[in-house]
Amino acid sequence: MTAFVDREPLLGCWYPVARADSIGADPFGFRLLANDYVLWRDPTGQLVSAPDRCPHREAPLSIGSVNDGVISCAYHGWGFGAGGACVSIPSSGPDATIPPAAHLSCCHVVEKYGLVWVCPGDPQVEIPQIGQDEDPAFRRINTPVEHWSASTPRLVDNFMDFSHFPWVHVGTFGGAQDPYVPKIDLGQLDDDFFGYRYEVEASNPQEAVAVSGSEEETVHRVMTTGFALPFSVRSTIAYDDGLEHILLLLSTPVDDLNSLFTFVVWRNDDHSTDPEEIIAFDRAIGAEDKAMLEQVPGTLPLARTGVASVQSDKPSVEWRRRFSELIGFSE
Ligand code: FES
Ligand SMILES: [Fe+2]
Repeated sequence: MTAFVDREPLLGCWYPVARADSIGADPFGFRLLANDYVLWRDPTGQLVSAPDRCPHREAPLSIGSVNDGVISCAYHGWGFGAGGACVSIPSSGPDATIPPAAHLSCCHVVEKYGLVWVCPGDPQVEIPQIGQDEDPAFRRINTPVEHWSASTPRLVDNFMDFSHFPWVHVGTFGGAQDPYVPKIDLGQLDDDFFGYRYEVEASNPQEAVAVSGSEEETVHRVMTTGFALPFSVRSTIAYDDGLEHILLLLSTPVDDLNSLFTFVVWRNDDHSTDPEEIIAFDRAIGAEDKAMLEQVPGTLPLARTGVASVQSDKPSVEWRRRFSELIGFSE
């Protein structure tokens, strides 16, 4: 097993940890790179995130409460407001002098694509740009943030791989696909994503009609799949009638063996179909990947010789090579 979450360069990356609309009146606790954090909205509605540890006696702040944007520690009631500043120490009275060490050291946090993204260190790697997010012809559909008992590098390795489609996805779209994978040419897809372009004949069962917009038994799709370091994968699907379906697959390492997973969809359809109907098919596909990956123990070996690879693994092997370089892993 190759532990990776303690690699310092990962602190400079952004990780989606929750749906922005799920952060309400209560503190939200989450685990990222094997550390615990808390998240809440300050008096102006801005998100604040910090290690889930009160500077006083280290109680988890996530078991406290939020009132008017101030989070109160459940142990002795210290309060923390905008920017994590300590604003009250009840035992010292209203005129208390707040010691500098009482303030929280906050993480960077932004809302993008309907998600809350946290960077625990100094940001070194940008959140990938999805141009369709600004394009009024496209609508965005968010999906739940799920917990997968599988290691994040295994998720990315899987999302970069299409030789598993006729095996793992036989229950959804993979049944019509030839298991033979022709030679893959890798290249830069745009400024942010690196990957490959391919064409498939996909099964188009009744459950897929809302997504494909076609009643045919199989549909022709031109697709691209690419990654942006460390863990974002984008899949684009273009149908012959001009319909485009963009999927951003986002994996966040909870620790070496567990992940958060969510995906975001952009589509240039006529916006009439119920979004739940649109994502139901992609969620069924995700459930097939989850069921497989949760059976695979440990995290992905990063050493080239740790697992056997063939030509169809070229994209995921390239992700693994660049990821290893990012985190400073050498064999
Ligand atoms: S531990 Fe938080 S106020 Fe004492
Ligand atoms: Fe899959």
